[in-house]
Amino acid sequence: MTKLVINPSKKQSKINKEIYGHFSEHLGRCIYEGIYVGEDSPIPNKNGMRTDVVEALKHIRIPVLRWPGGCFADEYHWKDGIGPKETRKKMINTHWGGVVEDNSFGTHEFFELCEQLGCEAYVNGNLGSGTVQEMSEWVEYITFEGVSPMADLRKKNGHEKPWKLDFFGVGNENWGCGGNMNPDFYANEYRRYQTYVRNYHPDHPIHKVCCGANVDDYEWTSEVLKTTHNHCLKELHGNMDGLSLHYYVHPEGWEIKGSATDFDDKVWYKSLNKALFMETLIERHGHIMDEYDPEKKIGMIVDEWGAWYTVEPGTNPGFLYQQNTMRDALIAGITLNIFNKHSDRVKMANLAQIVNVLQSVILTDGADMILTPTYHVFDMYKYHQDAMLVDSSVETETIGVEDEWQVPNLTESVSVAEDGAVHITLTNLSLDKDYEIRTILTDYQVNEVKGEIVHGEMHEMNTFETPDQVRVKEFNEVEKTAEGIKFIIPKCSVLHLEVR
Ligand code: AHR
Repeated sequence: MTKLVINPSKKQSKINKEIYGHFSEHLGRCIYEGIYVGEDSPIPNKNGMRTDVVEALKHIRIPVLRWPGGCFADEYHWKDGIGPKETRKKMINTHWGGVVEDNSFGTHEFFELCEQLGCEAYVNGNLGSGTVQEMSEWVEYITFEGVSPMADLRKKNGHEKPWKLDFFGVGNENWGCGGNMNPDFYANEYRRYQTYVRNYHPDHPIHKVCCGANVDDYEWTSEVLKTTHNHCLKELHGNMDGLSLHYYVHPEGWEIKGSATDFDDKVWYKSLNKALFMETLIERHGHIMDEYDPEKKIGMIVDEWGAWYTVEPGTNPGFLYQQNTMRDALIAGITLNIFNKHSDRVKMANLAQIVNVLQSVILTDGADMILTPTYHVFDMYKYHQDAMLVDSSVETETIGVEDEWQVPNLTESVSVAEDGAVHITLTNLSLDKDYEIRTILTDYQVNEVKGEIVHGEMHEMNTFETPDQVRVKEFNEVEKTAEGIKFIIPKCSVLHLEVR
């Protein structure tokens, strides 16, 4: 029997709801078709936003949405996306398929979407090819209430009141598609641009996110913090509320990536091993952040993460459309457990991308919509949002088929919600073994247990023909014991237990 020990009274850190955030980019069919279909569409919509997608996202309690990119952000000029739609400029989406972007989804539409979703707004500004003035004016347009050129323009365009802007990214991937800068150059640019990201509402300030590293580029983290910390920014926090990190799982590496649906046992374990690397990244980048910010006031913002495979055969290579299987359910479950466990430093994360792109929670085909295995994991994990992480540990053994890509058989995280319920999320990475779990809940009287599970064969997925192949099922086989509970977690599964 495998021992899982939970101490519900040993509270560790708050799991910010923003860890369960998402990312929408002008890429392929993410915004257009996936979210926005326009008011005249036969697809049911409210002010152009498709109703089925909005309802599905509300169900998983989407806390925050990042927009407009990604690489798209540093080529986006926000003024092209306001005013009457017929006069909005058309542009080439150079990064993603070279298609025409007609700017019919712009600032007003994004905030309308956030309002419908009831979520926070995370706008990513253009530092790579935009000016300081342009960035500053965008913030003024969005948030300033009084009389000013940009507030007046917003009013003229039909929105009297300002919107609430929760997070603002000062550039995206400026080490790459956002301008190919070196860390010192970017850090100086950050210092300049962020100065003009004005907080017009001290009661709900904008949280500024600085562009952080690609994967394990620890030098970027060090150099950016060194340069932003010294000289002008005496008090780093306030000028920088978050530092981003981007990490994707490419099973066969960046060049080949690998199929989303056609893989064997070896690739299964390799993919999960790569997902587990997120923990090393958080620890090592976190260690550097600790040097400059020992009180952990600056959040690590993992605003792009997920699995990135070869596009589905026959689809536009620039649209990055991929399917989603039980492997993605495990990648999501493992990664979210890691974020929960590091919620003292990780303050937000945004899965890439919300609809029709990389590890999406929703796929659409015209008027049809399906929910992916990853969606169902977010559904089961939603109870961790704003709950307190508590002390827990599980016994593990090492499994896998190749020496290089071994993984632990189980991962877990546990939180206590405001109403006192204990939420346990557990992943079983094994393809062939179920495990009996003896759970010890220290100083806790168990009265009631409810469970739900996502499991299946590793290739199982939802298609437009079989939309419910993978879904959340009730899990009732839990026994109360003198010390807590016991149950068997099946192979290849993600489990959520609610204990009261
Ligand atoms: O998610 C796809 C792309 O990956 C994003 O646009 C970019 O930021 C990253 O390189």
